[in-house]
Amino acid sequence: MPAPTPATPPPIADSDLAFLSRWTGEKDLGVLRAHAEDNWRDMVGCATHIYRCMRRATYLSPRIARYPVYEEMLAAKAEGKRFMEVGCAFGTDVRKVVADGWPAENILAVDITDNYWKLGLSLFQDASTPPPVHTFFGDITDDPSTSSRPDIITFLDAGTHFIYAGAVLHVLSEAGVRAMLTKLYAVLAPGGVLFGLSVGVSEPESGSDVTPPVPWLMVSTTTNVPSPSPATTTPTRVPRVLHCSSSLTRLATSIGFASVKVKTFNIPREVEERVMGQTTEEETAERRALKERFGVERLYLGFEMRK
Ligand SMILES: C[S@@+](CC[C@H](N)C(=O)[O-])C[C@H]1O[C@@H](n2cnc3c(N)ncnc32)[C@H](O)[C@@H]1O
Repeated sequence: MPAPTPATPPPIADSDLAFLSRWTGEKDLGVLRAHAEDNWRDMVGCATHIYRCMRRATYLSPRIARYPVYEEMLAAKAEGKRFMEVGCAFGTDVRKVVADGWPAENILAVDITDNYWKLGLSLFQDASTPPPVHTFFGDITDDPSTSSRPDIITFLDAGTHFIYAGAVLHVLSEAGVRAMLTKLYAVLAPGGVLFGLSVGVSEPESGSDVTPPVPWLMVSTTTNVPSPSPATTTPTRVPRVLHCSSSLTRLATSIGFASVKVKTFNIPREVEERVMGQTTEEETAERRALKERFGVERLYLGFEMRK
């Protein structure tokens, strides 16, 4: 059972507000905190489907700069290279890339829904002067949906050098992960890199007949992929899946990626609870179910896939 949406915003530390303060210029953290809490209430009240991590307001702080490849990426910002974020949600990481000097015209922000992006315009108080990046809200794996956007086709056809997908693969079905990686591979420039993070599972023990990806037991009708806005599709009921390092590597290699690095790691419980928006009980129950059903542990997969 999904946890009930909390009625009150999560605690927001001063450090959570650092990027928002920098972007908006608002120095009074009390004012900013109240604004972030109001925005959170708007999100809870208006989005049809809310991811658990969103409940925890993880979108307040950018995370893209934590990836080793980010340094390489920033070094290339003046070379006319293109950056795309898939699953951009509020646009926090896109704003970070803009703030770090990447030319906005070389950035494409993609999400299947614009619900979160609109909330981001309110949160970052830039609705009247939104980041001048290209945006596409729809399914980029679904080619007909891009046909009405020649600018997006031009951007994608030109080849993207860096693609970031943070916390996206684990919200997709097995076919969805394959379609997403296939599309991202297709739009990467030669030598380009796709990087990001996903929830995953440990390798099955030797002799086990379990072959990841495994269906994710947390799948529920209230945490599915949101419909594009305006709602034109029925929310999918296909189970989301979790890959292990070797199944994700195998899949990416079969699609054509020349170099695939997948690093597994655990996040301390207390951090995970905050990041995933889970209560300890939910988290324990989910871990136990994965262990009992498939003999695997839940963990995280950081990946870097080069064309
Ligand atoms: C768990 S949230 C992560 C958001 C953000 N990247 C982060 O790290 O906080 C997953 C995001 O992926 C988006 N998403 C889901 N399916 C997608 C798809 N097929 N194409 C693009 N975005 C998708 C969701 O709308 C949501 O914004």
